[in-house]
Amino acid sequence: MTDIPRRATRIAHIGIAVPALDEILPFYRDLLGLPEVPLDNADGADIAGLAADGTLVELLEAQHPDTPIGKFVAKRGPGIHHICFAVDDLDGTLTRCRDAGLRLIDETPRLGAEGKRIAFLHPSATAGVLVELTEL
Ligand code: CO
Repeated sequence: MTDIPRRATRIAHIGIAVPALDEILPFYRDLLGLPEVPLDNADGADIAGLAADGTLVELLEAQHPDTPIGKFVAKRGPGIHHICFAVDDLDGTLTRCRDAGLRLIDETPRLGAEGKRIAFLHPSATAGVLVELTEL
């Protein structure tokens, strides 16, 4: 029997790959008026966080070309890099995805920024969108 999540899955954050934080930050912060949220840097990226109600916008600038964000920008240019969904049961959701035959990047959850458990699904399994899962 499939476990049904007890709480609604929601978008935790949207990760946007940018060439330079300083150049794009004023758009989100000053023109749209999103308050900045201090975030840890992770996975070789400097991260600027902005709060859009309950959803974070994470601007990701590669610290080095040989990082996930650096490679993404070199290959595809700046743009939306991933969408992170907060789920009620990360382990259960990951198991359901695996059992459904989806290709996973992280076979088991790992610690991401801010000490939260995360796991990425492979974009080939999700219509080209890199999906990150985290816990509520
Ligand atoms: Co993320």
